[in-house]
Amino acid sequence: MELSLKGKTALICGSSQGIGLATAKELAILGAECILLARNKESLQNAVESLAVEHLQEHSYVVADFRDTRQIEDAVKGIISRKAVHILVNNTGGPKGGPLIDADTHEFTDTFQQHLICNHILVQAVIAGMTAAGYGRIINIISTSVKTPLKNLGVSNTVRWAVASWAKTLAGELAPYGITVNNVLPGSTNTTRLKSLMAAIATKRNAPINTIEEEMLSEIPMKRFGDAKEIAAAVTFLATPAAGYITGINISVDGGKTPVL
Ligand SMILES: NC(=O)c1ccc[n+]([C@@H]2O[C@H](COP(=O)([O-])OP(=O)(O)OC[C@H]3O[C@@H](n4cnc5c(N)ncnc54)[C@H](OP(=O)(O)O)[C@@H]3O)[C@@H](O)[C@H]2O)c1
Repeated sequence: MELSLKGKTALICGSSQGIGLATAKELAILGAECILLARNKESLQNAVESLAVEHLQEHSYVVADFRDTRQIEDAVKGIISRKAVHILVNNTGGPKGGPLIDADTHEFTDTFQQHLICNHILVQAVIAGMTAAGYGRIINIISTSVKTPLKNLGVSNTVRWAVASWAKTLAGELAPYGITVNNVLPGSTNTTRLKSLMAAIATKRNAPINTIEEEMLSEIPMKRFGDAKEIAAAVTFLATPAAGYITGINISVDGGKTPVL
C-alpha cells in the first residue's frame, strides 16, 4: 500500500490545535511538507515546531481568519505563488451551539461564509496546481450531522449539509483530473471544541458538566470520546496515494454512534 507523502505539500486549515493539528502531525510523519493556517500566530509557531521532519520538509504557517474571505484569498494566493498544494484539509472552528429556532439570520450567513465560501475560495486557488501535478486530495472536516442532525447544533446541522453537497458535487467535477474530494465526519472528539460545547450545555441546563459528559458517553457504543489522532488517521489515509480511487464519500469516525441512513 502506497502511503508515502514525500514530495507532497499539504495546506491544513484550523491546525493550531485539535483535529487540524493532529492531522498535520500525521501528514508530516508520512513525509508531507505542511503549511498550517489559523488565527493565533503564537499557537501556530508552537504547532509547526511540534511537527516531525522525516524528509527534510520545511513546515510553515500562515495567519488568516476564516471569518474574513479576503484574508483567506490573500493567504492562499501567497501560498500558491510559492508552491503547489497537493493536499488541502478544509477545517475551521465549529459554529455556535443552540436550537435552530433561536438562531439569528446572520448566524446562517456567517457560518455559511466560514464553512463553505472559504472552502470554495481555497479549492479554486489550489486546483490548477493539483491538476498540473496529477495529484489532488481535498478533505473536508465536517460532522456526523450530515447523516443525522445533532441536538443543540441547529445552524451547524444546516450548513454542514450544504458543505457535504458542495463536496459531493466537486468530487464528480474534479475526478477526471486525479483530484479526490472526501469528507471526514468526527463524532464527539476530545478537543477544546467539545469541552466548550459541554460547558455551554451545562450552563444552560444548570447541571454539572460531568452529568452532560455521562449523557453524551451513554449514546456512544464505544463509551468513550474520540481522540483527535483517530480523526486525523482517517483524514491522512484519504490524503495518500493508496486512497486514489476513493472520492465523494463521507466517513464517520464516531465510535459507532451515527445510525445508518
Ligand atoms: N471536537 C468534536 O467533538 C467535533 C465533533 C464534530 C465536528 N467537529 C468539527 O471539527 C472541526 C475542528 O474541531 P476541533 O474539535 O479540532 O476544534 P478546536 O480544537 O476548537 O480547533 C479549531 C482550530 O481551528 C482554528 N480556528 C478557529 N476559528 C478559526 C477561524 N475563524 N479562522 C481560522 N482558523 C480558525 C483554531 O485556531 P485559532 O483559534 O488560532 O484560529 C484551531 O486551530 C470544527 O468544525 C468542529 O465543529 C468537532
